[in-house]
Amino acid sequence: MDESIHDAALQRCHVGQWKSPKRSTVPFAAFIEARARASRRIVDLGCGAGAALSQLAAAHPHVEFVGIDVSPKLIGFANALSEGGQSPNVTFVIDDWFELQCYPAVDGVISLQTLSWLSGFEAPLQ
Ligand SMILES: C[S@@+](CC[C@H](N)C(=O)[O-])C[C@H]1O[C@@H](n2cnc3c(N)ncnc32)[C@H](O)[C@@H]1O
Repeated sequence: MDESIHDAALQRCHVGQWKSPKRSTVPFAAFIEARARASRRIVDLGCGAGAALSQLAAAHPHVEFVGIDVSPKLIGFANALSEGGQSPNVTFVIDDWFELQCYPAVDGVISLQTLSWLSGFEAPLQ
């Protein structure tokens, strides 16, 4: 993975979301509300710097959220920005969704804004 792609994106998007959540996070949170209430563990594939996941974690303190991203830099930001016990029910892990380590069973998998990172993603949309 070319980490340099994250240098510009970090400032513009990932870290900025901690102060100004993406507008799409609000309807998504509403969309998964009922399922999240009935879940105990949810994984977010490609969590970036973790802003959206931390907002979901704050709304569902009974759920253990695990954010996974292939970028050590973004996971580093996620860990640094989530310090202070604001979201004690969320952890961030460096991993590749194509070669995931073993995780405890989960009730749900979410993945926000990641479609374009899948090679050949345009094909099914044609
Ligand atoms: C557009 S960002 C979305 C970040 C976050 N979900 C959000 O909504 O802001 C796509 C993310 O997918 C991650 N990613 C790309 N390929 C990945 C892979 N193979 N395994 C895990 N994460 C990956 C990137 O590092 C990046 O953080």
